[in-house]
Amino acid sequence: MNVKEVNEFLLLYKEEMDKSEDWYNERLKEIHEEGKLELTYDELTFGARVAWRNSNRCIGRLFWKSLHVFDERHLETEEEIYQALLHHIKFATNNGKIKPTITVFKPGLVRIWNEQILRYAGYETENGIIGDPNSISFTKVCQALGWKGEHTHFDVLPIVIQINNQSPAVFEIPKEYILEVPIQHPQYKEFRELNLKWYAVPIISNFKLSIGGIDFEAAPFNGWYMGTEIGARNLADIDRYNILPRVAELMGLDTSTNANLWKDKTLVELNLAVLHSFKENGVSIVDHHTAAQQFKIFEQQEKERNRKVTGDWTWLIPPMSPATTHVFHQPMANIIKKPNYFRQKKPNYDLYLT
Ligand code: ARG
Repeated sequence: MNVKEVNEFLLLYKEEMDKSEDWYNERLKEIHEEGKLELTYDELTFGARVAWRNSNRCIGRLFWKSLHVFDERHLETEEEIYQALLHHIKFATNNGKIKPTITVFKPGLVRIWNEQILRYAGYETENGIIGDPNSISFTKVCQALGWKGEHTHFDVLPIVIQINNQSPAVFEIPKEYILEVPIQHPQYKEFRELNLKWYAVPIISNFKLSIGGIDFEAAPFNGWYMGTEIGARNLADIDRYNILPRVAELMGLDTSTNANLWKDKTLVELNLAVLHSFKENGVSIVDHHTAAQQFKIFEQQEKERNRKVTGDWTWLIPPMSPATTHVFHQPMANIIKKPNYFRQKKPNYDLYLT
C-alpha cells in the first residue's frame, strides 16, 4: 500500500465529494485495519472520472463527469471477462448514441492483450499489406493462438484475455456487437467505391488506470471519435491505410507535384466524408473545431473550480488546420496528476511471434 497516494486520493475525494472530517477519519481507520485500500464503488467512479479529467492528451475532457463505470472487480475467469466486455461494447455503442464507459477488472489478475477492444487486423503478404499495418504483430499473436482471419482490409481482431500468467484465451466478437460506418462523401459519389469503413467506438484496452496507488491494468474505456482520428490519421497516414493517393485519383488531382496541395485537398474531403458518414448513420462523432470549443468550456470550468488545466499541447492540437483552433495559440503545462490513465508494459507475447 502506498500510504502517500492513498491519502492524497482520500483528501481529493473528501474535498470534491463534500465528505466530513468524521468520514475521513473513519475511512482512514478502516483502510489501516484492512491493511490496504479497497475502493468503494463511489470512490472507483470518482477516481475513473478524475483520471479522465487529468488526461493531458485528451481534447474531449469536458464530458469527464458523464463517464459510466462498470465495476467488474469480482470477475475471475476469462469467459466472465469476455462477457463483461461484450456488455461494455453493447452499452457504450448504444445503437450509435455512444456513451463514455469504463469497465474495471480486478487489479493484478487480468491483462487484455488488445490495444483496443475493436481493431482491424493487419497482414503482411507478398503483394503488400492487407488491413491495418498498425496491427501486424498483434495479428500474428492471434494467429499463433489459433485465430483465423478472413484477410479482408477490415477483419475485426478477436479479444485476447490473460489471467495471471496463464496462456491467454481468445474470443471472437459476434458481428452483431460491432457497429461500423461505411464511408461515403456528400458530393463525390465515387468515394463509396473505395470501400472504406471504420468502427464506431474506440475502446482503449491497454492502458492502466491508477487511483490511490492501485493499478488497474485491465480497465478498458471509451469515448466517441473526433473525425480527424479516422480521417487524418487512421485512413490517411502513410504507415496506416494510406488512402490519400486514391482519393486524389477519384478527385482527378495531379499527385506528381506538391504545390497543387493535393494532399491537403484530399485530406479535407476525406475528413468531410468521415463526419458526414457517421452523422448519416446516427453514430456520435465530433469535428475538431467543435471539440476545441468544448475544450475551451472545460478550461473555463476548471478555472472556476480553481484547478489548473494540464495538457500535452503536441497531442491536443488537431492534426488538421491546428492553428484555426484556440488550442494552438496557448501554452499548456504538461504536468501529470493522479488519478490518471497510463501506458504500461506490453504483455509478454514475444513467445507467440516467432
Ligand atoms: N486515436 C485512436 C484511434 O484512432 C483512439 C484514441 C481515443 N479516442 C477517443 N476519441 N476517445 O483509434
